[in-house]
Amino acid sequence: KYDTFNVSKKMQKQLPKRIMNLLRLLGAYGSERKTPVYVVGGFVRDLLLNVENLDIDIVVEGDGPEFGKFVAEQLMIKYVVHEKFNTCSLFFKDGFRIDVATARTEYYESPAELPKVEVSTIKKDLYRRDFSINAMAIKLNQETFGTLLDFFNSKKDLEEGIIKVLYSLSFVEDPTRILRAIRFEQRYNFQIDEQTCEYMKKTVKNEYLEKVTGPRIRDELEKILKEPKPLKSIRRMGEFKIISHLFPFSYYTPTLDKDVEKLFELYGYFEKNYKQYTQNVRFLHLLLFVLLQYTPEETVKFIEYRYGLPGNFYDNLAEARESFEKLNELKHPQYSHFFDCIKILNSEQIIFVAVKLKENLREKLFKYFDKIENLELSVNGKELKDKGYYGKEIKNKLEELTKKLLNDEIKPGEERKYI
Ligand code: CTP
Repeated sequence: KYDTFNVSKKMQKQLPKRIMNLLRLLGAYGSERKTPVYVVGGFVRDLLLNVENLDIDIVVEGDGPEFGKFVAEQLMIKYVVHEKFNTCSLFFKDGFRIDVATARTEYYESPAELPKVEVSTIKKDLYRRDFSINAMAIKLNQETFGTLLDFFNSKKDLEEGIIKVLYSLSFVEDPTRILRAIRFEQRYNFQIDEQTCEYMKKTVKNEYLEKVTGPRIRDELEKILKEPKPLKSIRRMGEFKIISHLFPFSYYTPTLDKDVEKLFELYGYFEKNYKQYTQNVRFLHLLLFVLLQYTPEETVKFIEYRYGLPGNFYDNLAEARESFEKLNELKHPQYSHFFDCIKILNSEQIIFVAVKLKENLREKLFKYFDKIENLELSVNGKELKDKGYYGKEIKNKLEELTKKLLNDEIKPGEERKYI
């Protein structure tokens, strides 16, 4: 026994016409093939939340790839089968894509591995999913188009804003769900249910995150960072001790939290006022500079390898650390000191240095940016060459003049006196 009600009016109202037509068409094909067809997961969740989501995941009680092939032939579009998972993808001519799966029960040969699959019914298919809010389906077949299947009180959890797993081993079977729970909690401003929190903590403590491959964890981290307010998620990862299980030696202390908060604040400031420094910057790298700043080299190297960070990640971190330590130690830092430190750093390092500078130095750093941007030397390399400067001497002289100008030791236009 379960709750059913019809959401076709809501779909009609909310969905773009072409999506609605497509869903009706899939239902009609299903009826023709005597195959029950459903749209499931995030699409249904977001429909009920009135949030736009055009990622269509279809599940059929029958043979997914066979149904997909039929649809592709009817519509004369491309389709690709993923044998291993018994699913297929349909590619429309305008680039739109939908995935078609076979209703399945997953079983796991060992924890944290990808699942093996077995053909099943929609209810079992929904039960194996991560959270109740993601475990609803809408039937698409003609006769029953728009019937919402809610076996697990999902609708109520959605209304109450609760993230809840459907079974106790959910996180053990797929520890990436720990990060997903946090992401959804933050995205919708929901709360992870108490019992679910307990399962999460236990799974973290028992080191299941360590069993997941690096790239899968990295994907989840990137997804968290793409959400509108990732700081809240990172704090939550600290509370659940997730940070220290992903990055041994990183403890989410109040000191570290201050740096993380500063990073978000400054990154926004850079984006607004110094956009040139945020181009080609990977926010994940910045965050990891902050999180791994106290981690010994050997462990950073391991993390580099595990999560596929660039091979020079540690060296860049060490170099940036040297820079901000040097600046922070100076009693009366001058613009020329900033010039010497900054000139060897890339944008990611510069932003990290900005995070770690003392308040007054940080202010001076931004003044330095303004100053250097407006600075124009009245002599150039060619002129120096004509005067007999050679090779490296030219670059050195230009730098020397730049620093003198920055420090107001010479007036603009008077450079020639010093060559
Ligand atoms: N799913 C799951 N366990 C996971 C990942 C996904 O059970 N570790 C299920 C959920 O039912 C989810 C669906 O697969 O709704 C689709 O997953 P995905 O596309 O990753 O997420 P969405 O829920 O669509 O969320 P998003 O809005 O972030 O795309």
